[in-house]
Amino acid sequence: MKRIAVYPGSFDPVTQGHLDIIRRAACLFDHVIVAVSENSPKQYTFPLHERVEMIRKALGSRPRVGVEPFSGLLTHFVKSRKARILIRGLRAISDFEREFQMALMNRKLHPDIETVFLMPDEKYTYLSSSLVKEVAGLGGNPKKLVPPNVSKRLKALSGRRKQWKGIASP
Ligand code: PNS
Repeated sequence: MKRIAVYPGSFDPVTQGHLDIIRRAACLFDHVIVAVSENSPKQYTFPLHERVEMIRKALGSRPRVGVEPFSGLLTHFVKSRKARILIRGLRAISDFEREFQMALMNRKLHPDIETVFLMPDEKYTYLSSSLVKEVAGLGGNPKKLVPPNVSKRLKALSGRRKQWKGIASP
């Protein structure tokens, strides 16, 4: 039987840390589905289709990895893909509480789905999508933090915001 793992998240946008986790998961499982969330309570910077496309482009052709949007309960999506494994990345102790809560809630909902935590390379432990957006938004270079296609998008976004502010200010 094929071991299918689902790696869910907002990926707003995907970072080198996320890609590192995807690579590690792809070494462990037969197929990895990167599941891009549509309905977490968060306000997203990038629309769903763009978050999906950015990951697809960053990954290139990887036969064992798919990227799909999902909405509704994560465990329903996992079941619908005949998977039993959920992957989450753990960067630091600060991630633990929320991750522990989500893993146990998902287990309560579907006891046969197991959450597996993977650690990214330590050079990515400080990295998060929100910090990357803050850096890029304030004129910092996001080049080493995200794949090149995402870096371009972030620069375009921060350029547009500056332009807009310039027009809006007297
Ligand atoms: O990248 P994020 O924002 O930490 O990902 C969080 C995500 C999308 C995995 C989480 O919000 C989620 O699973 N959302 C789907 C709705 C759901 O199933 N909620 C109950 C899970 S405890």
